[in-house]
Amino acid sequence: MYTEKVMDHFTNPRNVGEIPDADGIGEEGNPVCGDIMKIFIKVDDGKISDIKFKTFGCGAAIATSSMVTEMVKGKTLDEAEQISNKAVAEALGGLPPQKMHCSNLAADALHKAIEDYRSKHKS
Ligand code: FES
Repeated sequence: MYTEKVMDHFTNPRNVGEIPDADGIGEEGNPVCGDIMKIFIKVDDGKISDIKFKTFGCGAAIATSSMVTEMVKGKTLDEAEQISNKAVAEALGGLPPQKMHCSNLAADALHKAIEDYRSKHKS
């Protein structure tokens, strides 16, 4: 039912944890199941230099969070903002249809973390 990539990121998630002095934090809840995800970013020179996540959610949510952190590390904020829920699911080789809603959390939390950073660093 899950692709190998999903299982890999679920059993061995990348970038799990918190960044205590994060430059931006995004939190997103999934109205479908009530699961929650938090993403922390560090920004240097307009690029995401570090990213970590915490997910209180299902295996698909963990896998998509892990994948999104790998996809955006080192990217500019503008590039990271372009990453859609669909792109994350595709990078994992797809998700079962009943689990597609789980992939919304990761990209939405990332976009909120970028918004948070931008609202604190207006210049
Ligand atoms: Fe809640 Fe997957 S069931 S995020």
